[in-house]
Amino acid sequence: MLVLGVESSCDETGVALYDSTHGLLAHALHSQIAMHNAYGGVVPELASRDHIRRVLPLTRQVMRESGRTLSDLDGIAYTQGPGLAGALLVGAGMARALAYALDIPAVGVHHLEGHMLSPLISDVPPEFPFVALLVSGGHTQLMLVSGVGRYTLLGETLDDAAGEAFDKTAQLLGLGYPGGPALSQLAAAGDAARFTLPRPMLNSGDFDFSFSGLKTAVLTLVRKQGLEQAADIAAAFQAAAVDVLVGKSLAACAHSGASRLVVAGGVGANAHLRHRLTRAAAERGITVFYPRLEFCTDNGAMIAYAGAQRLVHPQPDLGFAVKPRWELSMLDAV
Ligand code: KG4
Ligand code: ZN
Repeated sequence: MLVLGVESSCDETGVALYDSTHGLLAHALHSQIAMHNAYGGVVPELASRDHIRRVLPLTRQVMRESGRTLSDLDGIAYTQGPGLAGALLVGAGMARALAYALDIPAVGVHHLEGHMLSPLISDVPPEFPFVALLVSGGHTQLMLVSGVGRYTLLGETLDDAAGEAFDKTAQLLGLGYPGGPALSQLAAAGDAARFTLPRPMLNSGDFDFSFSGLKTAVLTLVRKQGLEQAADIAAAFQAAAVDVLVGKSLAACAHSGASRLVVAGGVGANAHLRHRLTRAAAERGITVFYPRLEFCTDNGAMIAYAGAQRLVHPQPDLGFAVKPRWELSMLDAV
């Protein structure tokens, strides 16, 4: 089955072509980061307009690179939510119109399901069941995944998402948007032991997270120390955030008896998290699976892949409706 995937939920337009027999054939991405940087965050109206400009050229590019034609497609997947309503509508409108013209099915994919299944786009994918740590700019969740659409929420953040905490801390340290990559680069030059920051809820006995107190602790530290020790503060923040993510993920594996852990979402690109998690998990006989680095952040490949899993079954015709808010636990099992 050959599926075109279109991602347009936030500030990246991603298009990809996935074949259930031959794997990922091509993928292309346009990031709007430079455009939004001047405003310190994503401007929804600008995001929608840019998706309109990019989505067709990117589609032509993946078709050309894959050597396939539109008439080879068996289905089209697009991000139906959660995300920015106007941005989602661009992908939904394009995907539904093209599917209608080609007389093939279209399927709306849950953005987080795309992230969560992204480590499966691999030559050695993890088997079910596994625990998934979803750490993006908008979400932080631990899920028990026993199959496509079979998701049990174990815990989630009570306030800021992990990526949001990286972004807000980066802002306090005078770094640009999004701050995660810049903060982790600065942290690499710092001494994490110089300052000690709290590990919120590390020992709370559940699988929930809280990151807003950590951000406030950084603010207090910056007020006291100024920005001269920014690298040490960045390293201390990263060490604290990663400690909590590692501790909770391993506790979730122990609780559910899972020997496989999947990490997905933008913060999954963080080198310190990968290093710490892989080592701590190995000591407990747990294997950690990550998506390819470029598929940690938003991309079309994860949408094409998740769409291919769902298109195996007939899909209800949902029209153009998008779901800016959408709980993962509401999905049907496949
Ligand atoms: O998954 P994603 O692309 O978008 C959402 O669906 O939210 O995640 C973006 C988030 C941003 O908060 C960004 O700062 C963070 O992922 N991020 C990182 C790194 N790369 C991206 N955070 C820490 N370290 C990184 N290397
Ligand atoms: Zn995302």
